[in-house]
Amino acid sequence: MSGDALSPEVAGGPRHVAIIMDGNGRWAQMRGRPRLFGHHAGARRVREIVETCPDLGVEYLTVFAFSTENWKRTQTEVAGLMSLFRRYITREARALRDEGVRVRFIGDRVRLDRKLTALMDELEEMTAENSRVNLTIAINYGSRDEVARAIKHMARDVAAGKLDPEGVDEGTLTRYLDTRVLPDPDLVIRTSGEARISNFLLWQSAYAEYEFIDTLWPDFSAEIFAGLVRGYAARDRRFGAVKA
Ligand code: IPE
Ligand code: IPE
Ligand code: MG
Repeated sequence: MSGDALSPEVAGGPRHVAIIMDGNGRWAQMRGRPRLFGHHAGARRVREIVETCPDLGVEYLTVFAFSTENWKRTQTEVAGLMSLFRRYITREARALRDEGVRVRFIGDRVRLDRKLTALMDELEEMTAENSRVNLTIAINYGSRDEVARAIKHMARDVAAGKLDPEGVDEGTLTRYLDTRVLPDPDLVIRTSGEARISNFLLWQSAYAEYEFIDTLWPDFSAEIFAGLVRGYAARDRRFGAVKA
């Protein structure tokens, strides 16, 4: 696959790209439409981006769909988003499976309704054998919440004699996070012009490259994505070291 001279795969490109899909509300407001109209338009952008990944050599794509802080929005918007997630999974499941996409979800499921979590489990199961590209969707995800849940789990394992506190290191915490099976993101993209992280993959992105772009998420495209992936390849990542 990667040896094909005709492949547009980017040499030195990111293996894992994470996206903070922001700007749906403003996109809708600019059109005089309700915020949910923007969320629906935004959801439709995801598949095209996922499908571009294999050609670009991106093995993992992680998207931020709903944060632990997004519950502060109006009941109408929250309910509309939850219903959008249910509909999205139902509608896209077959296409994602047939495209070879392995879907995973991260975030705390406890606060999500049963109907939604059942659909999430089902989609994870039905794509579990896929390996062409890994799509991770963050729903009710917050980095601090994830770390707190991981520490709670570690504390329980210590109490149960399953974990030796003296052996705890960075790798131990990494294995207790929701993202345990994912490599760290190499590139984090945020749309809509906001230059902040909003509690997304804080631990995992310690050495990620960041791209903050003005495009609102519903206007994001495969071309913009490919441009950012190519731009990444030109960056010099030093990880604290100095080149010989
Ligand atoms: C991102 O778009 C989607 C979610 C947070 C669910 P926003 O809804 O935050 O859109 P803006 O930032 O208000 O434009
Ligand atoms: C971050 O966007 C969360 C998602 C994209 C799901 P927000 O729009 O919620 O972030 P803030 O409030 O502007 O920081
Ligand atoms: Mg926003």
